[in-house]
Amino acid sequence: MPVVKSSDGGSLHVDGFRIRVFEILRLPKLSERLEAIERAGWNTFLLRSDEVFLDMLTDSGVNAMSNEQLQALVNLQDAYAGSTIYYDFLRAVNEILGFRYAYPVHQGRAAEHILSKLFVEPGKTVITNYHFTTTKAHVILQKGRMEELIVKEAFDTESTYPFKGNMDIEKLRETIKKIGRENIVFIRMEATTNLVGGQPFSLENLRQVRQICDEYKMPLVIDGSMIDWNVALIKKKEPGYKNSSLAEILREITSMADIYYASARKAGSVRGGFIATNNEEYAKAISELIPVYEGFLTYGGMSLRELSALAVGIRQMIDEGIIDYELRLIEECVEKLSARGIPVVKPPGGLGCHINAAKFLPHIPQKEYPAAALASAFYLVSGVRGMERGSLSLDRLPDGTEIYADLELLRLAFPRRTYMESHVRYIVDRASWLYRNRDLVQGLEWVYEPKVLRFFLGRLRDKRSWGREVARKYLEELGEN
Ligand code: F0G
Repeated sequence: MPVVKSSDGGSLHVDGFRIRVFEILRLPKLSERLEAIERAGWNTFLLRSDEVFLDMLTDSGVNAMSNEQLQALVNLQDAYAGSTIYYDFLRAVNEILGFRYAYPVHQGRAAEHILSKLFVEPGKTVITNYHFTTTKAHVILQKGRMEELIVKEAFDTESTYPFKGNMDIEKLRETIKKIGRENIVFIRMEATTNLVGGQPFSLENLRQVRQICDEYKMPLVIDGSMIDWNVALIKKKEPGYKNSSLAEILREITSMADIYYASARKAGSVRGGFIATNNEEYAKAISELIPVYEGFLTYGGMSLRELSALAVGIRQMIDEGIIDYELRLIEECVEKLSARGIPVVKPPGGLGCHINAAKFLPHIPQKEYPAAALASAFYLVSGVRGMERGSLSLDRLPDGTEIYADLELLRLAFPRRTYMESHVRYIVDRASWLYRNRDLVQGLEWVYEPKVLRFFLGRLRDKRSWGREVARKYLEELGEN
């Protein structure tokens, strides 16, 4: 969003894009919503999209594409090997991110699979600012461990610390000493840290992590799936970067990575992923695994049309005209909810607006999944589909012990260039109604619990049929819509 001086002396934000394709939305009636969430086992992943009004499950694979990206999609230069589209993609990675080698994969978790296969051995540790669900699953599947050393402010949703995605540097040094350099495979930094509420790390922190990696000769891996927002938030908040261009900030981040990987479904606004590096040895090792698990090196499981659009997406992801559209909507959503006393993750970051379910529903114990209960209750009263990001998103230990999440969040994701201000007002209104009636919402219990990534396909039921109680009260006060 360009900022210009306004004629009355202030500043004016103007959106640097316009909408030329739209999708008509339908708000399902309350009775349909109740039936849908019951059928979906109180798991928003199992709702059908025609049962949803605003789909805020994720920003993954559902961003609006630019006209240049749509144009790139009809590039029909299809070839199993050596497509020129691959070389366009490689040029974009090289020019924008600064890496010489880059390999497409079918999506972000495929990159995590390849990197875990390559680096992780039984009992060895990946140190990270914070895990992401699929990252952790791949490390564990290789019998490795993850140490999460994010700063403590990340778990205090009220703290307005601007870089809650930072690694705790002191803890990092202590942990390396404690477990020994030989037991650590790499350090991973997630740019815009997903599970703590889309929070960024600072360049200063990344530089300190880089320095420690140099001291101990450890590879630094950056997960850049949502790097666009991290870049914008550095420019906005980190002292000394106000006048830097987004491209310069991006390059400063990527210049510190030994390996960079991303889900291209997010900042890239397509469907796919990739791994990039400047290290010839890593490039060789990665390139040997890609044809086994993904596809030939020049497509890696992606459709070439999407790869063609990704080359454009990489160039456009830090365009000044579009970069902070969602950031401003998220900010508005966080501020308006907060003004109504609703507990949200502060400060507003990237990715979405995150409601603190542990505080919203303090009467529900973690073993009854307050964040999942809130996600389904919010769908019921609004038709808005968010995602549980709490204990249900963690799998049990092999002996069946439940592990509880540091944060119990309902995430309402803002896909890029998709939703508008009236949608924020609607969310705030429905969340306020639910907050007033929060005592009606109770916990959830399992009907079917998968062993790995249980949140995707698990089915639950609402204890003592609280959903019907919520629906009854809603109907009485607000009617069928
Ligand atoms: N890393 C991060 C930081 C992510 O947010 C995701 C996906 C992945 C890796 C895995 O990528 O889905 O392409 O395989 N996040 C999505 C989300 C699923 O909804 O936040 P993927």
